[in-house]
Amino acid sequence: MDQKSIAGFSKLSKEEKIDWLSRHFLPQSGKEHFEEFWLQNDQIQRIIDGFSENTVSNFIMPYGLAPNFLIDGKVYCVPMVIEESSVVAAASSAAKYWMDRGGFTTTILGTVKVGQVHFIWKGGFTQLQKLFPDLEQILRQNAASITANMEKRGGGISEIELVDFSHSEPGLAQLRVRFQTCDSMGANFINSVLENFASTLESFFLNHDGIPDHLRDINVIMSILSNHTPECLVRSEVRCPVSQLGHASHGMTETQLAEKFRMAVRIAQIDTYRAVTHNKGIYNGIDAVILATGNDFRATEAAGHAYASRNGQYKSLSDCEVADNVFRFWLDIPLAIGTVGGLTSLHPLAKTSLEMLGNPSAPELMRIIASVGLAQNFAAVRSLVTTGIQQGHMKMHLLNILNHLNATEAETRQSLAWFEDKTVSFAAVREYLEQLRQYAE
Ligand code: MEV
Repeated sequence: MDQKSIAGFSKLSKEEKIDWLSRHFLPQSGKEHFEEFWLQNDQIQRIIDGFSENTVSNFIMPYGLAPNFLIDGKVYCVPMVIEESSVVAAASSAAKYWMDRGGFTTTILGTVKVGQVHFIWKGGFTQLQKLFPDLEQILRQNAASITANMEKRGGGISEIELVDFSHSEPGLAQLRVRFQTCDSMGANFINSVLENFASTLESFFLNHDGIPDHLRDINVIMSILSNHTPECLVRSEVRCPVSQLGHASHGMTETQLAEKFRMAVRIAQIDTYRAVTHNKGIYNGIDAVILATGNDFRATEAAGHAYASRNGQYKSLSDCEVADNVFRFWLDIPLAIGTVGGLTSLHPLAKTSLEMLGNPSAPELMRIIASVGLAQNFAAVRSLVTTGIQQGHMKMHLLNILNHLNATEAETRQSLAWFEDKTVSFAAVREYLEQLRQYAE
């Protein structure tokens, strides 16, 4: 066994894990960092240790606030967890801008979540279809103890569909199950139902009268929810007369700004290279709220990118129209999220985020998150077609540079004032600080 490999790592205590790490992989400073972050809040560390495996510390991210989000007539202050500078500032600025123009209007287009049981049966799809009514009844019956609670809350299994994949693989078929999971993301509920379905499938084919003995074998390959959620969809939209777009138009008339903005969105509909960056900007906002509320950003990203490709080409998730002197900008986005269960109540700050949002239902949180995505996209595209993004970005980055160069509070104040109307770069900031420090000597 290689000296650097280890058996039974998970059984070591946190201290032992860090000791082992520092013997083989980590300089002393790294060991101190792990302990410093963890010991700062031993109690919280204990909570988050329960979320994952082999935890030795925690990883701090900025938790910011974007106020002034007017969504469907209600004002929210939105929590955002993100490390990238400018994102929260951009969301806040777009929120304020649209608050003065009627705010965001949203529509829930669907709340369906999907799960699948993939299996192989050699009796032919036509025969499978004939057996399906009996099968469906038994599937629902056997899963009743798992679905009872969800049904009481208004959710449960809404549809079981039989899908044929025998054209791709002999005998391959699928139970595609649609669920309503109310305010929970529903992953555990869906997967439990699907695994129950898998055992029902096996017993059904073993015992059902209408199946000849040589076809009693069914091979269940796997049972798992799908993160493709095109039917768990929300639209957020802003609109205003072109004349109210305002004078932030950098030498352009409002009409020119509206048209340039529309064209920028159109380019993201036409060109995949641009579409990916455009959508990344949307997810800057979305992921930040997903993280702050203890939801699963990998699931929502995967769903969004698949949805962006639904017509065979990866495109912008947002759309823009300028017609009859009205500027309209909207985003349709799948968001399979929850406001109960999972980390939402376990992570103390996720719980606080939800409280700050007024303990929303899952559909209400979908409306909020989609609006933050749209605001973020609006801010990015507006910068791109006017000032370019570097101006704002480097202003925010200035603080990072100042921190990196160990600027004092007074130096930070002076630097922020000095760079108010100048181009920020690492070299320029270093030079300015050197000058300040020389004069101070
Ligand atoms: C940067 O994180 C995001 C942007 O590139 C998005 C965009 O180009 O639309 C500014």
